[in-house]
Amino acid sequence: MCGIIGYVGRRTDAGVLVVEGLKRLEYRGYDSWGVACKTEEGIVIRKDVGKISAVNPSDFLQPSSLAMAHTRWATHGGVTPENAHPHVSCDGKVVVVLNGIIENFEELRAELAAKGHRFVSTTDTEVIPHLIEEEMKNEGQRTEDLGQREKENAFPGPRSQVPSPSPDFAAAVRRACLRFEGRFGIVAMHADVPLLVAARTGSPLIVGVAEDGYFIASDTPAFIRSTATVQYLDDGEMVVTDGQSILFSDLRTGEEREKREIAITWSAAESQKGEYEHYMLKEIMEQKQSIARAVNQDIDQIETLARAILDAQGTFLVGCGTAAKACMAAEYFFSVIAGHHVNFAPASEFKLYHRFLKPESLLIAVSQSGETADTLEAMKIAKSKGAKVLAIVNAEGSSIAREADYTLHINAGPERAVASTKALTGQMAVLLLIAYAMIGKLPKGRTRLLETAAAINDMLNPRYTEFIETIAERIQQSSDLYIIGKGWNYPMALESAIKIQEVSYVHAEGFAGGELKHGPIALIEKGTPCIALVGNDEVRTDIVSNAIELKARGGFIIGIAPARNDVFDEWIKVPDVDTAQAIVNIIPIQILAYFLAVKRGKDPDMPRNLAKSVTVK
Ligand code: F6R
Repeated sequence: MCGIIGYVGRRTDAGVLVVEGLKRLEYRGYDSWGVACKTEEGIVIRKDVGKISAVNPSDFLQPSSLAMAHTRWATHGGVTPENAHPHVSCDGKVVVVLNGIIENFEELRAELAAKGHRFVSTTDTEVIPHLIEEEMKNEGQRTEDLGQREKENAFPGPRSQVPSPSPDFAAAVRRACLRFEGRFGIVAMHADVPLLVAARTGSPLIVGVAEDGYFIASDTPAFIRSTATVQYLDDGEMVVTDGQSILFSDLRTGEEREKREIAITWSAAESQKGEYEHYMLKEIMEQKQSIARAVNQDIDQIETLARAILDAQGTFLVGCGTAAKACMAAEYFFSVIAGHHVNFAPASEFKLYHRFLKPESLLIAVSQSGETADTLEAMKIAKSKGAKVLAIVNAEGSSIAREADYTLHINAGPERAVASTKALTGQMAVLLLIAYAMIGKLPKGRTRLLETAAAINDMLNPRYTEFIETIAERIQQSSDLYIIGKGWNYPMALESAIKIQEVSYVHAEGFAGGELKHGPIALIEKGTPCIALVGNDEVRTDIVSNAIELKARGGFIIGIAPARNDVFDEWIKVPDVDTAQAIVNIIPIQILAYFLAVKRGKDPDMPRNLAKSVTVK
């Protein structure tokens, strides 16, 4: 939800740097963009609706050593140039970009309007620069009230090297932030001071430590071409930098915070499209390797966590969207393989489960980005009850990874397409591995998964994708599509619907096969495409019977199964991988969704109305 990048340092092409960096954050939102550069003529701002990918970085060549940029996913206020970030104060000197929501913006806006502030947008963000401006106006009076201590705490480091701003901009940002309610990350700059100031309460902000200066961004791809050394800003912290030194402090108390520099391992190359036209197809194909990487876990750690699940008084699995479907599949893994009951809830619904939680309970939070607001909220609820949290995440250094008591990384590498593909199968692989560890059969689980990875490697050949493309061609004009599954293929039917809906905009719905005759079968007409996800397991005959019921009403049956069946009008063959069947069965659907999007003229990497990282509740 919105991407932010700021740079301050010795380089004089800060405008170009932030535009290039922003292009690598576009997966976080892409309805509008904006750039602010501090130049000799003052702060120059350009913003517009549309995608940052269409903007030429060389349009921002004017000399500048301090700049910031924003790509937006609209929350408050429509998609208009006025609502695009950055937003500025009345005097045009305070400039701010935001990721998140200022929940009490209406009240602050009314208060500021009564003091004469004029607003030009309908966003919540615009109150921020105006309140900072107001705080700067009042600083003389407030400094006396708050005493010398706060002044000293505000930013002692660079103050010795840069002209001391007066009134103190960083202190004004801090005071303003203390009045905001909601989850947000902001970056601010001021026309008279060569500083970047940022604060976080909920939405991610990461500092990139480069040789020539500092970056502050929502995610590491924004600056990975300049540096792989990062410092993480935690909730309730702020940071101030002049490009030479940096000071982290507690937002509330102003107390200085020590930060470690951490080297991240994802290389810039890993997040490029390479030979593929879209990230989505590239990431689908990467499942040839990513499942084996997910399985490559520390054996002792997996065994300890398996024990923790067995010992816990109540294990709850939470996630959102596709990650939630991995959790649902895990319910079946733990039941069928380990005979152990766990509870699944979409993270956004977990609030009402708190009565079941005890200090002996365990929450398993599953997330690709590690920044999903609802999943973080579920973790907060569990922690408030003293329960422990295990995170299964992809993004290194993400909030969920850092806030959990135990973290397992799925090692899928950066996932840039909005539609999650390789992260899902990596999450399921790790959960399946844990299920085997729960019955003391971790080596068997590893072998099963490595064999599955090898089978996927063989399956994902050009002939296979071309065949699925022909099916996409055949059904691309259909307005509705239904997917059925049973057992662990039931959550995959739900996931299939998400994948098809979000990239192709075809109406797709997933059902438990047995539920059809209780209502949904009324929707089937002659020629309606219906996909049956079938395994070679104890429920195979049931789901085949459900497919026969659909065919009897005119359904055009596409079977995704290890073995052909007469009921299938089209058969997409998948390897027979026993307990890992859900992992392979979803892959042809990912390919089908991709080709449906492309054939219908949609951009599968950036579907409308969506963003990759959902940092608002
Ligand atoms: C769909 C999709 C979303 C995410 C969901 C959770 O393809 O990607 O449904 O799965 O927003 O995101 P993470 O996994 O980052 O917590």
